[in-house]
Amino acid sequence: MSKNILVCVAWPYASGSRHLGHIGGAYLPADIFARYHRLIGNRVVMVSGSDVHGTPITVRADNEGVEPIEIVNKYHKEFLGYWDKLNIQWDNYTTTMTDNHKKVTQEMFLKIKANGLIEKNKSIQAYDPIENKFLPDRYVEGECPKCNYLEARGDQCDSCGVTLDPEELINPKSKLNGNKAEFKETEHYFLKLSALNDQLSKWLNSKKGWRPHVINFSKSFVEEGLQDRAITRDLDWGVDIPNNELGDGKKIYVWFEAVIGYLSATKEWASNMGDPELWKDFWLDENSESYYFVGKDNVPFHAIIWPSMLMAYGDLNLPTNVPANQYILIKGEKASASRGVGKTLNDYLDEWNPDSLRYALGSILPEQNDSEISENEMIRRNNEELVAAWGNLVQRVFSQYINNFDNLDFDFELIDVDKNILDQANTCFEKTGQLIEKVELKSALQTVMSFVNKINAYLNETEPWKVIKKDNKRGTAILYTALTSIDACASMFTPFMPSTSQMVKNAIVRNTQNNWELNEIKKGAELKNIGHLFKKFD
Ligand code: MF3
Ligand code: ZN
Repeated sequence: MSKNILVCVAWPYASGSRHLGHIGGAYLPADIFARYHRLIGNRVVMVSGSDVHGTPITVRADNEGVEPIEIVNKYHKEFLGYWDKLNIQWDNYTTTMTDNHKKVTQEMFLKIKANGLIEKNKSIQAYDPIENKFLPDRYVEGECPKCNYLEARGDQCDSCGVTLDPEELINPKSKLNGNKAEFKETEHYFLKLSALNDQLSKWLNSKKGWRPHVINFSKSFVEEGLQDRAITRDLDWGVDIPNNELGDGKKIYVWFEAVIGYLSATKEWASNMGDPELWKDFWLDENSESYYFVGKDNVPFHAIIWPSMLMAYGDLNLPTNVPANQYILIKGEKASASRGVGKTLNDYLDEWNPDSLRYALGSILPEQNDSEISENEMIRRNNEELVAAWGNLVQRVFSQYINNFDNLDFDFELIDVDKNILDQANTCFEKTGQLIEKVELKSALQTVMSFVNKINAYLNETEPWKVIKKDNKRGTAILYTALTSIDACASMFTPFMPSTSQMVKNAIVRNTQNNWELNEIKKGAELKNIGHLFKKFD
């Protein structure tokens, strides 16, 4: 009954450091989800990589006076450090500059073209007459027609937020040298989204259980009528178009090829595994499921453009769900970062234990709405929830058990109050699993945490530290029940906080080895002391 689950995560542009909001927006939730599915015995492939093309990279390279590849190498390396420090468990984290990615992209381009859904078309585009170059939207700057901000970009005004076409700018200038931009006719390839409108709309209407903000946005986007979209650009940094019909100086548009990364990275994974056909289990088997973890600004590309491309190509699985997140706003961070005193993601990764950071972010995931968090709030969650509730529960049961080990008498019977807490553990497994499968990860984490609080209440009520002095059997029954419940919590916390959960599990000797069900703890076995799991911040 094991399922194939493909976990696709937005490919970060290798053009700048990531921040905590990105981690909570996509990488952490994907990792929690993937780890859970591996635990319950599903076959999981989690893929992504650094998105190395596009104007975010070339603009940065131009500003710093270096080649794009230098920018890409620097940030790709930095990203690998994040995954390592945060325990993000990829099956394949690659880049869009591999030969494999180029090959898969070109093959997809040609097949969609052969299917009649990619066509050449003329359009008007900004042109720099001195450099003799067509200019991508972000390379044109001028006065915003709406708010008169003088440095509006060809695609958007950063001051008032309006989206623009370069022709709308007043006094458009080339960013290459400040010359006046001209407008000329040019030819590009277009994806014929207009021809896929009905098919896409039917598909979206058949989707159940998608987040309201994702499905509502996508449906209204399609209801407005899809426009054909240019999928080539006037750039020399990108994946080559697999023919030369448009002439030199044009490449495939970054968004067209980056989303293909999900497929090319799965193929690369299969080759790395030594069986190049394995990708088919995840893309052709119709019982296989795929989940796309992205930020809300990426919804159009994952819920509309990528599914359209898959339809145009044929045969490949469409997304099962696109559980896009809203934004995490780090309170106070933006203002202070610009003054150079804000914390970078690397600062957090150096100062925080990865599980504490995963917990603090996991408990505020912006699944339905934007969430705000401050460093103080993160510290409060670590100190009051993680250290005081979960860490302390483990600590006190372990030390009671270890200190009284010589007096423990395992020849006990459980009574109702014990059976009740174990029943609750069973219910908690079921409920937490269902929530994770629906990608309601924040509620799943809260569900486990409220079970922790119930175990603490059970101990306060049964007081094993007093009972053990008078009645060894009863005292042992309580400690045994608490330890069984702690083992259950450690199992359920594993996707969220893998290393500390594993420490707890390694210390306990069991007769059974269930990952997502109650285990039977071996009676009479010694318990290893594991010390404090988390540290309290001042
Ligand atoms: N690089 C894009 C961004 O940072 C995301 C690309 S996701 C993928 O917004 F679809 F292209 F893979
Ligand atoms: Zn404006």
